[in-house]
Amino acid sequence: MTSTAVTQLRLSQFRSHRRLELDLDERPVVLYGPNGAGKTNILEAVSLLSPGRGLRRASAEEMSRRQEAVGWKVKALLSTPDAQHEVQTYSEKGAARRVMIDDKPSPQTKLASLVRMVWLIPSMDRLWIEGAEGRRRFLDRMTLSFSPDHAEATLNYEKAMRDRNRLLKDAVNDEHWYRALEINMATAAEHIQQNRKDALQRITAAQNEGGSKFPNARLALVSPKGAPEPQGAEELAHVWAETRQLDLAAGRTLFGPHRADLEGHYVAKDAPARECSTGEQKALLISLILANARALKSQTGAAPIVLLDEVAAHLDAERQAILYDEICALRTQCWMTGTGPDMFLPLGDRAQVYALGSHSEEAQAVALG
Ligand SMILES: Nc1ncnc2c1ncn2[C@@H]1O[C@H](COP(=O)(O)OP(=O)(O)OP(=O)(O)O)[C@@H](O)[C@H]1O
Ligand SMILES: [Mg+2]
Repeated sequence: MTSTAVTQLRLSQFRSHRRLELDLDERPVVLYGPNGAGKTNILEAVSLLSPGRGLRRASAEEMSRRQEAVGWKVKALLSTPDAQHEVQTYSEKGAARRVMIDDKPSPQTKLASLVRMVWLIPSMDRLWIEGAEGRRRFLDRMTLSFSPDHAEATLNYEKAMRDRNRLLKDAVNDEHWYRALEINMATAAEHIQQNRKDALQRITAAQNEGGSKFPNARLALVSPKGAPEPQGAEELAHVWAETRQLDLAAGRTLFGPHRADLEGHYVAKDAPARECSTGEQKALLISLILANARALKSQTGAAPIVLLDEVAAHLDAERQAILYDEICALRTQCWMTGTGPDMFLPLGDRAQVYALGSHSEEAQAVALG
């Protein structure tokens, strides 16, 4: 193995799939089939091999196959350049999902150090024009791919902030209690800020080196208008102490990395991403994902697993061919979906291809061309 790849995937009772078994090599994976065949469900299952709620941000209960509703399981063999790991993640009867790595119960956050993963899904088509939350999530997913500890820092921050928000909501007036939580928040927040900055620098550097025919996107991390921009744990804790009265009135924490936003700029057109055409916005996202993958490859030696749901269909033939060439050059196991095989023909035997039927439970391996 020269890259990180899923070499075995077993789904049981996962959404529309009662059972599904795929044996794979490290090449890109193409899944095609009619609407509702279960392609996105498979990508979602793969996304659960990294920490978090997966690419649909669904609850464990929603992912359980409705007909039986007994829970679900995703089992995978992950091959990395130096090791092979068996990952199992499952939920029993709607309970929170659990993770086992090589038969040992493990925290979800540990997945981040086994496999690096990034994705593009159709709902991100509106990423640049909708609220900051989606852009923040996109940034944090890229950041996590560079810094596996980002998952834990985020969890720590969110936990401390939840506790502080509870105090604010209940109008508790306990200086020491606030102070302790604000220090915890500040330590985690400093970590989050550093990780995000580091990710942006790496992505920017990868774009500046060239190597992609997709348009460059300039990225900037920004705070909401008028918000303080403290740097470092000490300043952060100070700002939260200073703004406690404001927060008490609002009943929640108003400032911090949970409010940061990502600005994108289409460099060649000198235009903000939100003002670009739908296709241009998509091209910028692809460009960022590819830059992420190149940067990671130069950092760790292996590109991340990339999930591209319904991405190829939005590109013209020339851009499709460029996308395929760049994916193959990266040697990433990139999972791509589409409703038919035609748009994937230029991949030839550079990809492994599965056809999904509308009713069958089988994903049939097929050759392109
Ligand atoms: N929990 C569940 N239990 C059973 N079936 C489910 C569950 N969740 C979703 N489905 C079904 O899974 C089917 C396939 O969904 P999926 O989104 O994977 O299709 P797709 O192949 O990506 O289709 P499209 O081309 O439209 O994107 C849908 O018909 C949906 O109703
Ligand atoms: Mg789909």
